[in-house]
Amino acid sequence: MANAEDQAKQEAAARVKDIKSRLAALDDDALDLMFREARTFRAWLDKPVSDDQLKALHDLFILGPTSNNCLPGRVVYVKSPEAKERLKPCLNEGNVPKVMPAPVTAIIAHDLHFFDRLEEFSGKSGERFAKDAELAETTALRNSSLQGAYFMLAARALGMDAGPISGFKNDLVDKEFFAESNLKSNFLCNIGYGDPDTVRPRGTRPSFNSISEIL
Ligand SMILES: Cc1cc2nc3c(=O)[nH]c(=O)nc-3n(C[C@H](O)[C@H](O)[C@H](O)COP(=O)(O)O)c2cc1C
Repeated sequence: MANAEDQAKQEAAARVKDIKSRLAALDDDALDLMFREARTFRAWLDKPVSDDQLKALHDLFILGPTSNNCLPGRVVYVKSPEAKERLKPCLNEGNVPKVMPAPVTAIIAHDLHFFDRLEEFSGKSGERFAKDAELAETTALRNSSLQGAYFMLAARALGMDAGPISGFKNDLVDKEFFAESNLKSNFLCNIGYGDPDTVRPRGTRPSFNSISEIL
């Protein structure tokens, strides 16, 4: 009889086979929603985002891959008017009207001491990161940036819109929200339902040939 580890492997393989048999790829409408017609929003419809929707968003974005499953990303969902007021002085002036009316502004951050939970997530010791602060910081920033991207795509997949923002003072956010901790802000991400009447024409994207090389 298969031992527990073999059984877990078989179950994992069966799950992959099942989804591949049910769906080969997203259809055109789904690709439009996620990518082709998805836009960055800077103005928001008066439509709330519930805490349950934020939890559903978490359940999707947290599945995105990170190195060694290190999962350094941390998220603070700035939602109440009081919390928004704490964020306001940290913003570049031009971004205040884009952030303050958004139903939720997520602070996408990373834990510089993510290695304390590495054993829990990957079964591996976090010691080599604990001994090398530069390696830990590079790893945390790389992977939290990836997690921020998964976050935006998860929001779109759930029918919401995202408005990422780096025009703010990271040091002020860190002081206000992450004092006495090992958390550092990466970028902000507004979440809600974007006002379609406010989007600008899509910026040019480079062609495959101009940025790619097949070796
Ligand atoms: C990390 C990041 C930071 C951004 N910071 C700002 C910002 O501070 N203010 C702003 O108006 N837009 C900001 N943007 C929005 C980008 O300009 C926008 O996503 C890009 O032009 C693509 O637009 P599109 O998705 O509508 O094609 C940011 C986007 C990203 C991904």
